[in-house]
Amino acid sequence: MASDSARSPQVQDENPSCNSVASFKSADTAVQLCERRKPKPESENLSFGTVFTDHMLLIEWSSEGGWEKPRIQPFGNLSLHPACSALHYAVQLFEGMKAYRGQDDRVRLFRPMLNMDRMLKSAHRACLPSFDGAEFLECIRKLVEIDQDWVPRSDSASLYIRPTFLGTESSLGVKKTSKALLFVILSPVGSYFSTGNKSVSLWADTKYIRAWKGGTGDCKMGGNYGASIFAQNVAMEFGCQQVLWLYGEDHQITEVGTMNLFLYWINEKGEEELATPPLDGIILPGITRRSILDLTRKWGEFKVSERYLTMADLCAALEEKRVKEMFGSGTACVVSHVGRVLYQGQNLQIPCADAGNSLTSRLLKELTDIQYGWTESDWTFFV
Ligand SMILES: Cc1ncc(COP(=O)(O)O)c(C=O)c1O
Repeated sequence: MASDSARSPQVQDENPSCNSVASFKSADTAVQLCERRKPKPESENLSFGTVFTDHMLLIEWSSEGGWEKPRIQPFGNLSLHPACSALHYAVQLFEGMKAYRGQDDRVRLFRPMLNMDRMLKSAHRACLPSFDGAEFLECIRKLVEIDQDWVPRSDSASLYIRPTFLGTESSLGVKKTSKALLFVILSPVGSYFSTGNKSVSLWADTKYIRAWKGGTGDCKMGGNYGASIFAQNVAMEFGCQQVLWLYGEDHQITEVGTMNLFLYWINEKGEEELATPPLDGIILPGITRRSILDLTRKWGEFKVSERYLTMADLCAALEEKRVKEMFGSGTACVVSHVGRVLYQGQNLQIPCADAGNSLTSRLLKELTDIQYGWTESDWTFFV
């Protein structure tokens, strides 16, 4: 019988190293400025992703010609062939990051190379071409610099950066694309907590599955999100804000709509523990998740684990009053306390220490202090 390796096709499973890869160069960027700048909105009451800045970045690729030179040009519509593979087969991926303006008026990004690495991993899975992440980040830096007046002067608002990568093959064959478009748009966003309600309610049910082993749940591909909207609407019909995605027969807790999930509790062994599900292929490797793990491991105040958690674990811990807090983490909200989980017809009320004393609010402060420049950190990237 043939060995596994003899049977496996010769497909590279890991990210190809971006250093050895043919890439565009940020130094080649052609800049065409718009004639008239648009008026800027008030940073209060901005609804997410509805207002865009004056410019955008575009970089085209083809299998024949490789990468073209990056272009920064006035914000405008794209022109796509109607057979474009992104439109038909969801050959598409994106990233989400933010630029923050500190009191010192300097504009900062937060650990942006992690977004570049995640984007390259998603691109590899989508059979889209690779590029040098540091060169792309430098192109993004230039774009943000050109539109820097759009970075809100507020420590509860920021400029959302949306890098997007599309397969633009202009034929209907289901195959690796021979043309692609990498682009970046910018959108000023207000506070995630504009409602003043910092607790989120979750609907936990196994009827709909976000991701599965061997799938694309650990990549930031548009298809993962489009396919989740139906369940999100059902959650809302049940009076919950978001879906808590469960997995497997044992109802493993995975993650929330656009957040990773943390449970701060006294575990089965009586230990104080901050736990989050492991990155086993079905969870998006969040940059906020990683930062929370890095920070709390550095504090060394309690056990920090990447481990499986099931709904049975959560229910037993609630029953025995071992749950301290539960929160979601992500670029949009930073950290968001989970107040209620609707599971099997029961509303599970999740406790939280008083605002100010909670781990959720401590992490919110630690992370936003770095993002807005109150705390110096080597996680900061200056624009
Ligand atoms: C499915 C999913 N999980 C988790 C996250 C949190 O990731 P990050 O902390 O990088 O924003 C996001 C947000 O991008 C997400 O879409």
